[in-house]
Amino acid sequence: MSIKKSVNIDWNTLGFGYIKTDYRYLSYWKDGKWDEGVLTEDNRLHISEGSTSLHYGQQCFEGMKAYRRKDGKIQLFRPDKNAARMQDSCKRVLMAEVPIEKFVDAVKSVVKANAHYVPTYGTGATLYIRPLVIGVGDSIGVKPASEYIFTIFCMPVGPYFKGGMTPVNFIVTDYDRAAPFGTGAAKVGGNYAASLLPHAEAAKKGFADCIYLDAATHTKIEEVGAANFFGITRDNEFVTPNSPSILPSITRQSLMIVAKDLLGMGAEERDVYIDEIDEFVEAGACGTAAVITPIGGIEYKGKLHVFHSETEVGPVTKKLYDTLTGIQFGDIEGPDGWVDLVE
Ligand code: PLP
Ligand code: COI
Repeated sequence: MSIKKSVNIDWNTLGFGYIKTDYRYLSYWKDGKWDEGVLTEDNRLHISEGSTSLHYGQQCFEGMKAYRRKDGKIQLFRPDKNAARMQDSCKRVLMAEVPIEKFVDAVKSVVKANAHYVPTYGTGATLYIRPLVIGVGDSIGVKPASEYIFTIFCMPVGPYFKGGMTPVNFIVTDYDRAAPFGTGAAKVGGNYAASLLPHAEAAKKGFADCIYLDAATHTKIEEVGAANFFGITRDNEFVTPNSPSILPSITRQSLMIVAKDLLGMGAEERDVYIDEIDEFVEAGACGTAAVITPIGGIEYKGKLHVFHSETEVGPVTKKLYDTLTGIQFGDIEGPDGWVDLVE
């Protein structure tokens, strides 16, 4: 498909919101196999009222981005990792898995078909891609669906947290996001439904989002809203929590490698105790949507602990951001296999 169009969107003022783009991918699984899939202009799904995704949350999703390079070409960042994580999520809620190659090819076909929505290089905006698998078909019992839909849509986005690289504050919540052997490591919708109330309460108090502690002991940091936590120690070490109930962030995994191999820092995944956050001189939230969002301060038990500054990004966080986004936008050469050209 060759589409040469342009759209009238100001990439510089984009937030993180739904925009209907021209094409989405749609594939059905039935009788043990996926069909080839099609690109369609229709943004509505017509599914059975008995769909397990509607009743029992049998679904999962991914979040990834396409980046416009300086030379005008478009690239993806580690799409095979999203494909693999989606397979893990499907396994956790007993859904049909999408083969890695089918996933990556389908993502590329959606990006190509909507290429005119990939923001201009230099604006910082990107094309956000949302793949999902949902259980569909006629059923009512609490059991895996008989049919599945794999669909991918996309939209141009700006920063997820207002201000982008300006620090924002978070508050520790008493709510739990995920149980130790629950579904926290899977990207399933139920985890996000559970986060709506804690997020709303944090926002009402003026915070960007909340910090979740581990459900078993309420002593260790797990997640920063829909992003992973990292801190930088006085010894220039990148530290990020280790837990089976955290979503294994691809951004976080990549930052560990950037810190160690490209910036010569230490990098460690380990317990991060909320009582010991003063060991960090800088802190941030990382994820596809969040990219790197500097954490100004964290409120815990009525006290705000400020890291580097509430208004200025710390030097190490800035270096990590510049290197990561440099690779994602094609300005810096990253490790082998990290970028995948779309066109
Ligand atoms: N944690 C949660 C709960 C998320 O929803 C996300 C977003 O995908 C992340 C962390 C960051 O993961 P990634 O870097 O793979 O986007
Ligand atoms: C992402 O970073 O892709 C996310 O999924 C976060 C949020 C928009 C759910």
